[in-house]
Amino acid sequence: MYIETSRLIIRDLVMEDWVHIHVYASNPKVTEHMIWGPNDEDETKSYVKQQIENQRAVDRTDFEFAVLLKDSNQLIGGCGIYIKELNAEIGYCFNPEYWRKGYASEASKALLKLAFEKFKVHRVYATCRPGNIGSANVLSKIGMKKEGHLREHLWTKGKFHDSYLFSILENEYTE
Ligand SMILES: CC(C)(COP(=O)(O)OP(=O)(O)OC[C@H]1O[C@@H](n2cnc3c(N)ncnc32)[C@H](O)[C@@H]1OP(=O)(O)O)[C@@H](O)C(=O)NCCC(=O)NCCS
Repeated sequence: MYIETSRLIIRDLVMEDWVHIHVYASNPKVTEHMIWGPNDEDETKSYVKQQIENQRAVDRTDFEFAVLLKDSNQLIGGCGIYIKELNAEIGYCFNPEYWRKGYASEASKALLKLAFEKFKVHRVYATCRPGNIGSANVLSKIGMKKEGHLREHLWTKGKFHDSYLFSILENEYTE
């Protein structure tokens, strides 16, 4: 898969990406609200390897992409989309050097387009931990509505976590 937006390239992962991914995947500030991390080098390498294996799946439903700046070809983060029949879930994670520049919103808008126009889903959803103000702001900014608060639905890193649930429906989506 290869997608271009005004400032970004969103493409399938290749093994060499692991070095750039590891810069942020090993940073506890970045992984604070994630179910994984902070990674050691082997964890980042095996994550990339697993994603490359997933690319070969017939009727692939799970897509994890690298996000690069068009201008410099610098890898600045990752985003993903998981197709579940008429629904799709999206997610993202960026290198903090590139936060607050609108890149997560730009990449997520591209994922919505992919979900509604290519995969013809009816609903796209995402979750974020309630303390992850940045992520909740991204989801609102791209037109998603907060539809729920999931209470202690997730066990990770030694405790239960709540999540906010956001979604957007086909008829609410505008490019
Ligand atoms: C959450 C994350 C992806 C946001 O990425 P980003 O590229 O900085 O987001 P954007 O620049 O597109 O920001 C979108 C909006 O959210 C706001 N925002 C972003 N981070 C914010 C923060 N930490 N606090 C408050 N608002 C924030 C921006 O100001 C912007 O609003 P505006 O257009 O009104 O100014 C990034 O902080 C990140 O990678 N965090 C670690 C991984 C993670 O938590 N992933 C999400 C898991 S659910």
